[in-house]
Amino acid sequence: MAEPADLMDKLVSLCKRRGYIFQSSEIYGGTGSVWDYGPLGVELKRNVKEGWWSAMVHQRDDVEGLDAAILMHPRVWEASGHLAGFSDPLIECKSCQRRFRADLPEVQDRQCPVCGTRDAFGQARQFNLMFKTFMGPVEDAASVIYIRPETAQGSYVNFLNIQQAARQKVPFGIAQIGKAFRNEITPGNFIFRTREFEQMELQFFVKPGTDEEWFEHWRAARMEWHVANGVRKDKLRFHEHGSDELAHYAKKAFDIEYKYPFGWKEFEGIHNRTDFDLSRHQEFSGKRLEYIDPGTNERFIPYVVETAVGVDRTMLVALIDGYREEIIAGEERVVLGLHPKLAPIKAAVFPLVKKDGLPERAERIHAALRQAAIPSFYDETGSIGRRYRRQDEAGTPWCVTVDGQTTEDGTVTVRDRDSLKQVRVAEDRVLAWIRERLDTR
Ligand code: GAP
Repeated sequence: MAEPADLMDKLVSLCKRRGYIFQSSEIYGGTGSVWDYGPLGVELKRNVKEGWWSAMVHQRDDVEGLDAAILMHPRVWEASGHLAGFSDPLIECKSCQRRFRADLPEVQDRQCPVCGTRDAFGQARQFNLMFKTFMGPVEDAASVIYIRPETAQGSYVNFLNIQQAARQKVPFGIAQIGKAFRNEITPGNFIFRTREFEQMELQFFVKPGTDEEWFEHWRAARMEWHVANGVRKDKLRFHEHGSDELAHYAKKAFDIEYKYPFGWKEFEGIHNRTDFDLSRHQEFSGKRLEYIDPGTNERFIPYVVETAVGVDRTMLVALIDGYREEIIAGEERVVLGLHPKLAPIKAAVFPLVKKDGLPERAERIHAALRQAAIPSFYDETGSIGRRYRRQDEAGTPWCVTVDGQTTEDGTVTVRDRDSLKQVRVAEDRVLAWIRERLDTR
């Protein structure tokens, strides 16, 4: 079935109904572009982060993990260029006093996107996207501190600490998952662009001259990761930054883009940041950040290849990509076809009826799954069809039903969310059956 025209609205309401995502401070009317993750959302988020961490850290010898603080020395943001350059052009409509990014297409056409007035814009001015606050009890210029807009700088300032403590040799990387904050002028599209979000960033330090090869390596690896998460290949593409798009620190950059219902837009960014960051931190801190090659005694400032993707954006892509409306035997069903490793609940266990000892047998299977830390959901209310539909919408890959035949031969039905195929599995083999599929899919 074709993607519904109002898919984003449907997704927002499904996410609320099923406990994936709620608007922050909703009972007070909400906070602009900030979202809370409910019981299923927090599981999806953990699965996204765990998948990234295993691919980037646990499965490699050459990447170390870091969890740097959100609050950093203010000089960090001078050195990184964020104080001077991390801004968007802002323009105000003199008629309705609303403010917009000056590069919006409507604004470029000289028409206000809210009140429709033509030619009522003032002069564009630069608006810095970093949130600032004060450290300590005195609120003066000397105590201004910024809330980090990216995790990357924590990895740069800890480059030598980690290289020495972990006894790594260049090439090696530092991986971080953590919150970042940006006072975006035009956030929106649900969790696509928010003011508080989480990033998964790798800074990979390489010898100058080998940077282009490593850049190509990471560009390919990151695309493969998204495909392995189940994202449809025809909805992913690369976009190379032209000279007018390149960030101040980048020599070369590619975005991995996804075809969202609101168009092709950035999903992940891969940048060749050269030695810009380490050189600047060396200059601003006065501390040497050179690497000394133990084999040749050669000294150099490594180049950095960075891969940076949002946790929230990865969740949004999984939700959009998985959302399907289907007609099955004349009835509509909504399915979240999440990859099993991302699905918040792996299996739902139902007794077909609430008698004949079926609930007790179903509860035993459910308890065994929980004991093995496989998120399982027990449900004995409503018709079996309704129970299946609730799980389809929640993205649960397998539903296990204990029925009349179970009492005869000890087998249960396991229904696959996507193919709708049902197979019979011995009740004491359900845990192993699910484990096998989680390991191989
Ligand atoms: N350290 C490089 C960096 O931060 P970026 O392209 O500004 O680069 C990296 O951000 C990724 O973080 C983006 O590709 C996107 O997935 C995510 N991201 C950035 N801003 C975001 C926002 N306001 N809301 C949600 N995710 C965001």
